Amino acid sequence: MLQRRQLFQFAGVATVAAAGGAAWMYYGLPRSGALAGGPFRHYPFDPVAAENFQQKLFIPVGSGPFGVLDVAGPLKIRTTAASFPLLPGRESPFLLYQTEQAGKAYQNPILRIESGARFTASLNNALQESTIIHWHGLHTPAAMDGHPASTIGPGGRYEYDFKVSNRGGTYWYHTHAHELTAEQAYHGLASFFLVDDDDQRRLSKSLDLQLGVTDLPLVIQDKQFDAQGKLLYKPDAHEAMMGWLGDIVLANLTPNAVQAVTPRTYRLRLLNGSNARIYRLAFVKGKTTVDFTVIGTDGGLIERPETVSEAFLAPGERLDVLFDAGQAQPGEDIFLRSLAFDAMENEGPAGNMGGMGMGRMMASMSSSRLPLGAEFNVLKLSVTAGERIVAKLPATLSQVKPIPTTGAAQRKIELSMGQMRFLINGRTFRMDEIAFDVKRGAVEIWNISNPTLGMPHPMHIHGFSFQVLERIGSPPQVAATARFGQGRTVSDLGWKDTVLVWPGETVRVAIDFAHDYPGDQIYVFHCHNLEHEDGGMMINFRVQA
Ligand code: C2O
Ligand code: CU
Ligand code: CU
Repeated sequence: MLQRRQLFQFAGVATVAAAGGAAWMYYGLPRSGALAGGPFRHYPFDPVAAENFQQKLFIPVGSGPFGVLDVAGPLKIRTTAASFPLLPGRESPFLLYQTEQAGKAYQNPILRIESGARFTASLNNALQESTIIHWHGLHTPAAMDGHPASTIGPGGRYEYDFKVSNRGGTYWYHTHAHELTAEQAYHGLASFFLVDDDDQRRLSKSLDLQLGVTDLPLVIQDKQFDAQGKLLYKPDAHEAMMGWLGDIVLANLTPNAVQAVTPRTYRLRLLNGSNARIYRLAFVKGKTTVDFTVIGTDGGLIERPETVSEAFLAPGERLDVLFDAGQAQPGEDIFLRSLAFDAMENEGPAGNMGGMGMGRMMASMSSSRLPLGAEFNVLKLSVTAGERIVAKLPATLSQVKPIPTTGAAQRKIELSMGQMRFLINGRTFRMDEIAFDVKRGAVEIWNISNPTLGMPHPMHIHGFSFQVLERIGSPPQVAATARFGQGRTVSDLGWKDTVLVWPGETVRVAIDFAHDYPGDQIYVFHCHNLEHEDGGMMINFRVQA
């Protein structure tokens, strides 16, 4: 159980309420029945309204909740049901990974480890239901990957032991419990897995970045809350099909977060940890967007800094960005915002529904007050006085060697929709079915196509990173930002493990199936819209020894 002090320390939000800040106006008088759990009548955390952004952003440092844990030996991780004050003064049921190291306790730690190091952990499931941890983006043997078939029951254990062979980057870990991933991840079972290497250190050094101060891991999630301010997860049939959307937006579990910044460059390691929401991220000052610089994607640094004004970020994806807060004057605010976009939930079967796709109808039936594609704020950066430091960006960040694709086998991956569920190559997930085999060491090009009548799907592969070769048939809102050759956007650069495929698009990716694990290896490939994943938009593939 969390210590009360830790909770307060964690949630800057709670302190605001206790100190009589604006936050509790929404709840009535302090210590009244209202604060203690009466009706949560209003919608005080509407992320559209800029004035709501008053809760201090939680920044992970030290031990405790989301503490940064520099892995120094084998870990014992326990999955437990706990409670957590997500909204000021409101405890919500929450699920946590608990662990300790050197006498310090951590909950959902940000694990940090050196590239090439060995990672050993024993997972103990203290939940009333099954679970398993998946190391998202890491190249591991199949048995260490957290495949849904590895799910352990209540009281069960799972031993992890593998070499972290990935390059430096912002990876993450989360539950992959068979058919329970969406609900468990939504209730908390997810955090960062940071891998360090020379490239990362060089960057930190040259820009004088410090984790937890000017280098900020930032997980973005949307949630719904019930009348008591508790997390709500109740997808009906339509929401189970389209994905569960929230209407309160959390940055590092802080609703309507604000962070004070000085006029210098910050690194934000953005992770979309939402179940289904896609963000079209931009920094906005007043009514205009302010440029930012992308330095990394899913699998670490890209080759050189790329300055852009917006980028899509789909569930599972990471975007490592530099933002110069000196682009505003002290006293000014800049919002990290999700801009409006066409959600393209216009999928069939159109049938006899006239011009209105069934999906559009379904989308409008979501219980979230914030439809997909709506514009809202994620985080407020309030610029304070301080020394103006103009960063000199390195010309080169890292090397990304293109996967040699001459003679590579081409594979068709077709997304489609069946009876109220989305399919991959016409299939729905079956634990014991292998959709196809690939040869160990082979390079393949996967042509992932999404029908015009569909919805966007963030497609994710386990075990291997890939490179995006080309985007064909992109909708205008994507094509407009495709400045990087072959229809690619900034989010497509570097090493990827998740790629957003829009309706009407074919995205071509190159994957090198080299590994040095003995025997056949079975991994999954799935949609990272977690309701889609649990609904069977997932296949097994086998890498033959
Ligand atoms: Cu992040 Cu199989 O998932
Ligand atoms: Cu994964
Ligand atoms: Cu999907």
